[in-house]
Amino acid sequence: MTEPLIDLRGVSRRYDGGPPALDDVSLTVAPGEAVAILGPSGSGKSTLLNLIAGLDKPTGGTVTVGGTRIDTLGEARAAKYRRATIGMVFQFFNLLDDLTVFDNVVLPAQLAGAGRGETTRRATELLRGLGIDRHARAYPGRLSGGERQRVAVARALMNRPSLLLADEPTGALDTASGAEVRRLLTDLHADGQTIVLVTHDRTLAAECATRTVQVVDGRIASDTALEAAR
Ligand SMILES: Nc1ncnc2c1ncn2[C@@H]1O[C@H](COP(=O)(O)OP(=O)(O)OP(=O)(O)O)[C@@H](O)[C@H]1O
Ligand SMILES: [Mg+2]
Repeated sequence: MTEPLIDLRGVSRRYDGGPPALDDVSLTVAPGEAVAILGPSGSGKSTLLNLIAGLDKPTGGTVTVGGTRIDTLGEARAAKYRRATIGMVFQFFNLLDDLTVFDNVVLPAQLAGAGRGETTRRATELLRGLGIDRHARAYPGRLSGGERQRVAVARALMNRPSLLLADEPTGALDTASGAEVRRLLTDLHADGQTIVLVTHDRTLAAECATRTVQVVDGRIASDTALEAAR
């Protein structure tokens, strides 16, 4: 059996004064899987993604990604881990509005200290591949929701992450833009990208995911493999 890319063991996350946001969650994800995390509001889905991304620390259990313990990393190492391993896409894009599309996309590579020539080549290729190259010099505020989300995906893929995490990537999009982003994520998965996405969008889960994990009250309520007939 191949090594899991993600290995969560007995992971809990408690905040003071409330019920645990996550309660003894164990989950493994193999390279190449596309997992959709479903569940009601407040069930712990974003918390789960943040722990995998090293943006938050569990109060119990271990988080291992690509063979490295993430839950014990200090700030600087966690940031380095994210730049090298993780691409993140959020519901509200989180693009920098005073940078052009191109500059948003190259930012992760610049932060990682990548060379300028290779960075420009990679960004150009991504923008072209995602059909947004004509907007490279525009500012994000001028783009549609679907276009902005494609910029966010380009930025997330800039450093060739082994893991793409997406939190409600179609949540803020209209029907047409949502369809665009669904197709994009499905294509990425078909090309071998490992994806973990949180969504309320049943269509996105059905089209893109090979597995759905239902989170209820901080626990995994079901974990279901979907037909791999794509
Ligand atoms: N920083 C925080 N401080 C205190 N409680 C928090 C914090 N972040 C999250 N929580 C709590 O943890 C629980 C899980 O939150 P989380 O954001 O993971 O839910 P979610 O499943 O992503 O919900 P949604 O679908 O609404 O995005 C919630 O009860 C939330 O109030
Ligand atoms: Mg959430």
